[in-house]
Amino acid sequence: MKTISRNIEFEVFENPSELPDAVRVLVETAVDAARNAYSPYSKFKVGAAIELKDGTVVTGNNQENAAYPSGLCAERTAAFYASAHYPEQPFQRIAITSISNDIPSDKPVTPCGACRQALLEYEQKFNADIEIWLAAEKGQIIRIKSVSDMLPFSFGASYLE
Ligand code: THU
Repeated sequence: MKTISRNIEFEVFENPSELPDAVRVLVETAVDAARNAYSPYSKFKVGAAIELKDGTVVTGNNQENAAYPSGLCAERTAAFYASAHYPEQPFQRIAITSISNDIPSDKPVTPCGACRQALLEYEQKFNADIEIWLAAEKGQIIRIKSVSDMLPFSFGASYLE
């Protein structure tokens, strides 16, 4: 028997002024996307902005449904649009954020398991890391260098070969 450990590193930025310009703009774009979320049931608005390798930015937000499981998270709304319209473009980075109706949150929103799985597919498809930027309405911003860091023991295409 042996014990194997796997650690991940991530970076924490104290506020948007510390971000590289391109990332700050991407986070702002995700905030704009969140404003159009359709979330009458949870009232939780999430926005995602994906920058593709060629610089194109694709956005998405959560879309809920009266039949609850039929809705979709912001990240997958954006990722599926990006893959549907720009199938040859690797994802370079994704910014994810949430906005509230009342008290501004300072807790960066993190993708659910299904979104991690969906994003991982595009990381593996292009064999290129996707940087993840997690933000809230105020406070710290987190950078994670790849989706695989967020999803150890993942299932993927290699099992189906
Ligand atoms: N949601 C997202 O869109 N992305 C996340 O990363 C977490 C959760 C949405 C799904 C649902 O519409 C609402 O937030 C509450 O779970």
